[in-house]
Amino acid sequence: MLHRIIFFLICIFCVVTCQQKKTPNFSEDIAPIIQQKCLKCHQQNGGGPFALSNYEEIASKGQLIAHVVQHKIMPPWPADPEYTHFIGELALTNQEIETIQEWVKQGMPHGDSSIQLVLPNQKKEENSNYILVKAPKPFFIKGDNKDHFFVAKYPIQVPANTYIEAIEFVPHQVKLVHHMNAHLINYAESKTSNPFKAPFWVDQNQQESQRIHQALNLCYEDGSYPVLTPSVCNYLPGSQFSKYPNGIGGFSLAKKAVLYINDIHFGPSPIDVTDSSYFKIYLTNKAPVRPVSEFQIGTLGLSPVVPNLSVPPNCIKTFNIEFTVPEDISILSIVPHMHLIGKKFKSYAIKPSGDTVRLVAIHDWDFRWQYFYRPPHLLKLPRGSKIYVEAMYDNTAQNPNNPFSPPQTISDRNGSMKTTDEMLQLILTYVPYKLGDEDISNE
Ligand code: HEC
Repeated sequence: MLHRIIFFLICIFCVVTCQQKKTPNFSEDIAPIIQQKCLKCHQQNGGGPFALSNYEEIASKGQLIAHVVQHKIMPPWPADPEYTHFIGELALTNQEIETIQEWVKQGMPHGDSSIQLVLPNQKKEENSNYILVKAPKPFFIKGDNKDHFFVAKYPIQVPANTYIEAIEFVPHQVKLVHHMNAHLINYAESKTSNPFKAPFWVDQNQQESQRIHQALNLCYEDGSYPVLTPSVCNYLPGSQFSKYPNGIGGFSLAKKAVLYINDIHFGPSPIDVTDSSYFKIYLTNKAPVRPVSEFQIGTLGLSPVVPNLSVPPNCIKTFNIEFTVPEDISILSIVPHMHLIGKKFKSYAIKPSGDTVRLVAIHDWDFRWQYFYRPPHLLKLPRGSKIYVEAMYDNTAQNPNNPFSPPQTISDRNGSMKTTDEMLQLILTYVPYKLGDEDISNE
């Protein structure tokens, strides 16, 4: 018996020491990580500031890479992967982080130099029917090294009886476009409206957001509001366009319609730049079967933030939202939303049976990385489930993202939506539940 135990211990010792001895090399150990978790942004004309597409480029930044992955600055993936997994998860495992540290420490050996990184496949043009919807006037981004947030509209004109299957955003100034949210507005022919009239965008730095609807002529002439379908298209650097699973999604389209961008965020630029980002709208003659809906809870949404969202200077404060799901739903994406002084965000649901369904947890909120988190499969929440959101805001001078120095009271200012005011929202996109949805891949 004893010799068996000794033999077993020797084996374990061998396995452990062998693993420790092997110095990671680029070709076998590093390239696959960069390939999977970095390259989609760090390639020529990607969203990242430089390419990491071969050994030389990566090794020349080795120390910096070791630093940013160690401190989880890169890759950008605010959601806690130990709480919930999502499609396209970018977070590195501890093992991957260790491997990178060790590789840099050991002088970044190359290994088999014949192995090359494969650039992410340029998307093959599908044989789809799409139109390009371009801005009548390019955005003008002043070279003042400040963030710029525009609200805009893109007119759409299509033949009658056409439906939208999907909408893809194609950024122009890839390194500057930091996010974009688009909504669809359909205008009734029976009412007078002028949505195709200039101006086509407003720089929020220059205009109070309350007046933006009027400034962009988005309402009917009598002042009433047309029908808005929220969040028809969203973009962040590195986000890859994908249609919803088969048979899900799509939008009806009126003869007169606009894509209403609220908003598009351009990062700071030292020089004046224009941007002609555009949309690819995939058309179909089939009416949507399972159109996507959304619940927006919290600020401006279906249930209030408690207590009122207002954070006094030099305070750290937590707020809550509760919402009861009114019907059986299948969740397609989970979108937490706060502004600059948001710190933590956690959401989960409790089913009528008492079971908990984890939605998303973010321990270090970053305004610049607001993803549409997609669960691997359609996620069912039965009617009567209670959704909870807990969110923390840090309005101290120690918060480097505080827009005010010295700190001042920051509140939602009745839903002003300005970046320097705050918001707390959870947005869920979903379809009404159908038997078998749990087995549908959300890829
Ligand atoms: C979703 C897009 C995206 C992905 C994926 C991504 N990066 Fe980045 N990276 C950026 C952007 C954008 C910047 C510019 C700085 C910023 O905006 O935070 C950046 C900056 C960097 C920097 C410079 C940081 C500095 O302080 O100058 C390094 C190094 C870096 N990334 C390495 C990586 C590595 C390594 C990976 C993969 C493990 C990775 N990035 C994945 C978008 C990305």
